[in-house]
Amino acid sequence: MPQARREGDIYWSFTGGLDEKRHVYIEGNGLPERFSSLKQSSFQVFELGFGFGLNFLLTASAWSHRAQPGQILHYVAVERAPVAPADLRRLLQQITISNKERLTQIYPAPVAGLHTLWFQPNVCLHLYLGDARSLLADGLLHNIDCIFLDGFAPIRNPDAWDPWVLKQLALASRSGATLCTYSVAGHVRRNLQAAGFQIQRRPGYGQKREMLHASLPPDTHEGTPLTVAPVSVAVIGGGLAGHQVARALSRRGIQPTIFDDGGIRLPMYALSPQVALNVNPESRLSLLGTQFTNNHLDVQRIGLQRKMSSGRRQRVLASLHPDVASDCGNGLLYTHGGFLYGKDLFTDETNTPDNRIQRGQVLDVVEQSDRVVVTFQPIHSPSTQIDNFDHVYIAAPDRALTVLSPVPLTPVWGQSVVIQADSTIDGPVIADGASIIPGPDGFQVSATYDRDRHSQSDPRYQDTEVLVHHFRRSHPDTRVQSIRAITGQRTTTPDRVPVAGPAPDWQALGAYCADNTQTRPFQNYSDRIGLLTGFGSHGTTLAPLLAEFLVASMMKEPTVLTRDLMTVLLPSRFLLRQVGRLQTPL
Ligand SMILES: Cc1cc2nc3c(=O)[nH]c(=O)nc-3n(C[C@H](O)[C@H](O)[C@H](O)COP(=O)(O)OP(=O)(O)OC[C@H]3O[C@@H](n4cnc5c(N)ncnc54)[C@H](O)[C@@H]3O)c2cc1C
Ligand SMILES: C[S@@+](CC[C@H](N)C(=O)[O-])C[C@H]1O[C@@H](n2cnc3c(N)ncnc32)[C@H](O)[C@@H]1O
Repeated sequence: MPQARREGDIYWSFTGGLDEKRHVYIEGNGLPERFSSLKQSSFQVFELGFGFGLNFLLTASAWSHRAQPGQILHYVAVERAPVAPADLRRLLQQITISNKERLTQIYPAPVAGLHTLWFQPNVCLHLYLGDARSLLADGLLHNIDCIFLDGFAPIRNPDAWDPWVLKQLALASRSGATLCTYSVAGHVRRNLQAAGFQIQRRPGYGQKREMLHASLPPDTHEGTPLTVAPVSVAVIGGGLAGHQVARALSRRGIQPTIFDDGGIRLPMYALSPQVALNVNPESRLSLLGTQFTNNHLDVQRIGLQRKMSSGRRQRVLASLHPDVASDCGNGLLYTHGGFLYGKDLFTDETNTPDNRIQRGQVLDVVEQSDRVVVTFQPIHSPSTQIDNFDHVYIAAPDRALTVLSPVPLTPVWGQSVVIQADSTIDGPVIADGASIIPGPDGFQVSATYDRDRHSQSDPRYQDTEVLVHHFRRSHPDTRVQSIRAITGQRTTTPDRVPVAGPAPDWQALGAYCADNTQTRPFQNYSDRIGLLTGFGSHGTTLAPLLAEFLVASMMKEPTVLTRDLMTVLLPSRFLLRQVGRLQTPL
């Protein structure tokens, strides 16, 4: 029986186990009947205390048997002391419960923050590793249908049951939402009532006489209206980020039209997490992004070794869990780093019906009342084409597009080489300035930063020399047989952080910034146009997560990022920072 050191409490009762959980949480909340008769397109559960994920597995199983095609279960769970992946595996081996292998596959390394984990096509687990109070303080949860309070006994762990926590849960829930827990402690009942819940004692499981059922009265508050799923969606830019948006949309059953005029494709891409000395929001994004890419794409997880001085190494390691990185002598070895094949990043292209990919240049994207108008110049046609969409995602770093023009984006050319050698080398990707990926068909060395190159894309001899020299330094005994150079552009921002979020109304933003009396956060963002660009050299680490974030937020689903991370990505941040009023909208 697993027991927590901190609270001195057990994870579930000696006698009841799974049956007790089924009784209190699944049947207590009436989930089988509610799932069978569900009219809305999604259902949202919130659990305080994920533990070994047993409640989650029971809920997912009940959902799988009853959900209609197109309906999605969003399961938001918080856990401040995550069990180690090895412990989870060990415990689940001893329990008969469906789909436990899948949970051990997706269960993330202990990186603090919100992890979005697609458990199966119609079940998304949003696992927040941190204290419930900090997620609730963000105020980003909405439309909860059902709550499981399973955070150890109130007497041992009072802060999980306090009036503020229960009030925030009520505010984040829909009218009619239900809540169940095994505890019938007097102060829990009083706190729930004060938060607006109507409570009922019901028969408990086995030797426990009672459990608690609570619900919000039908007319408590409206909740946030769910978006009607967009019928027609366009993605501008069929590069690495555009393909991740298409993937995120297809998880929701939406096949977008992709407009693209042809960009960089490399045979391999390094997946290289980056952590600053103090684990700032950018470092947390990088770690969470790496986890997301590992979970949702075909990563060749050979590790990534970043060369680093001993002093720096010790300081970075002090903030990381040993499952995430370790000291490997002359650098840090990131366990979840490695590389991806280009073909695996762009596979959606081959899966998409031909008519969904439009080759040519998008000239402009304009929102007009309830539609977005895209003006397009097809590649082999003299005339322009005009199309209308419900939602448009711009994953193309083209400042000629009016809606992107105020974002300070800088293109930087670069070059990689693919080297055929007389031997292969097992080992991680080595990142030491340039990165060396040891693929089965040769080494890829990436990349130069050619700030002096502005338009031409032909490989340059001096760049090839630099990259080959870099390779020879780390592999002096390997004979180079042939070299192929590839050039491309990446796009950077002044703060080296991508842009991901809804398009601001730039005119309104200008007026807001000019008005010194404004103290409320700027609110004027589009519901229909999302922006995603500026990945610099970190497309694989960040684009899959940020595409998921953008699509989820445009569709008003549970948040994929916490407020601090959303704020550093806002497309409006450059102007808002200048006037010292950078905040996310309420
Ligand atoms: C040499 C080199 C090596 C690199 N190595 C790595 C690596 O190992 N790992 C890694 O993570 N990252 C690497 N990168 C960075 C990576 O390529 C970028 O982070 C990534 O491509 C960004 O994706 P994106 O979709 O934003 O941009 P892109 O991949 O550039 O895609 C943008 C797309 O939009 C299209 N487009 C632009 N304007 C329009 C328009 N008006 N209408 C229609 N289409 C338009 C472009 O043609 C392009 O296809 C490397 C970059 C370079 C240059
Ligand atoms: C009884 S166990 C949960 C068992 C779990 N529901 C399951 O099905 O396996 C309680 C869990 O709540 C977590 N917890 C307690 N207080 C918390 C808080 N304030 N924020 C986040 N997690 C908390 C504990 O770390 C512990 O893992």
